[in-house]
Amino acid sequence: MYRHFLKPLLFTLPAETAHDFIFRIAEEAQRVDAFLALTRSLWGNIPAHLHQRISGIDFPGPVGLAAGFDKNARLPVLLSRCGFGFLEIGSITARPSAGNARPRSFRLPADQALINRMGLNNEGADAIIRRLGQTAGCEIPVGINIAKTHDSSITGDAAVDDYHYSFLKALPAADYITVNISCPNTSDGKTFESAGPLYDLLNKLYQAENRRNIPVMVKFSADIDTGRLKELVGICESFGIDGYVAVNTSARRLNLNTGRDRLGIIGSGGLSGAPIRKQALKVLSELRDLTNGEKPLIGVGGIMSPADAIERIRAGAWLLQTYTGLVYNGPGFINQLNKSISSELNKKGLNNLSELRSST
Ligand SMILES: Cc1cc2nc3c(=O)[nH]c(=O)nc-3n(C[C@H](O)[C@H](O)[C@H](O)COP(=O)(O)O)c2cc1C
Repeated sequence: MYRHFLKPLLFTLPAETAHDFIFRIAEEAQRVDAFLALTRSLWGNIPAHLHQRISGIDFPGPVGLAAGFDKNARLPVLLSRCGFGFLEIGSITARPSAGNARPRSFRLPADQALINRMGLNNEGADAIIRRLGQTAGCEIPVGINIAKTHDSSITGDAAVDDYHYSFLKALPAADYITVNISCPNTSDGKTFESAGPLYDLLNKLYQAENRRNIPVMVKFSADIDTGRLKELVGICESFGIDGYVAVNTSARRLNLNTGRDRLGIIGSGGLSGAPIRKQALKVLSELRDLTNGEKPLIGVGGIMSPADAIERIRAGAWLLQTYTGLVYNGPGFINQLNKSISSELNKKGLNNLSELRSST
């Protein structure tokens, strides 16, 4: 239905227009109990052996929604009926931001990919956390992804304070928090993926007065090199970080079928989807080795098929996330991933996901 009917229609619209259109319809639909029940019966039944308890949180399934899809927490109720095991809301920032000028999101169908330079557009931490607080009926854990407000005049201590504001707002509302240090679309072109700024940031967040004992994850870029990753993981571990998200989008344009002319017209932005699969796998495997497989890792980036999902778990992912895969495969994709991972466990005679993670 999605691939043959809805997707061809949506793909006639600019990417962000299609996203907004679907959100408007879905927001209305999630108010209707019968629609929620239908969605759940179609896609929402997750096989029991996919359940995991990680860092004290019960995840009914391993496949989560990646940050950026529901930045403003508008659809958690409906999304929680689609087979997701968890959602990551955001990135939220201390101040609201309109983001970059449109168009800022582009499809690359020949590559099963997207390029975006949204620029951290979101309604701001206050409004989004308020909305989450008023939302009843989301049935799965919700992580909140925080980033620095899209404003190049906010630097140094002010940048750390900016993250800190969102962190404090997110604490009472989140099941876990992801610190996004790797957005490639910041207005000053800088990220927190360097030792000094990351140390200062974590130092501040870990001193937060009313810090509840909720897990904190750090999200790395697809482009991070081995040496830098090792250095930054060392800093994260010194604070006792709870886990890592690998990966954010890539600023590179590697192995693309899309022509140079088209890429030139699109311009800058973060690449996601099939072309970043290998980079994502590499960063994830390195993180698994650096943490001796003992820290929860969320594998994200280029998961476009059940085989990709199983490969990512084998490479060390405890949980998965998808964004671009959803755009190309539709909402039934999550159920398809759940079913395939479950079949893989059965085929191999494994009891749970941690056995799949340690199998070869
Ligand atoms: C349009 C778009 C917006 C995104 N916004 C965010 C964001 O606000 N914060 C974040 O941490 N990641 C963001 N991401 C990155 C995704 O969470 C994910 O890390 C990346 O797309 C790789 O996964 P995928 O190949 O399954 O899409 C965004 C991705 C896309 C395509």
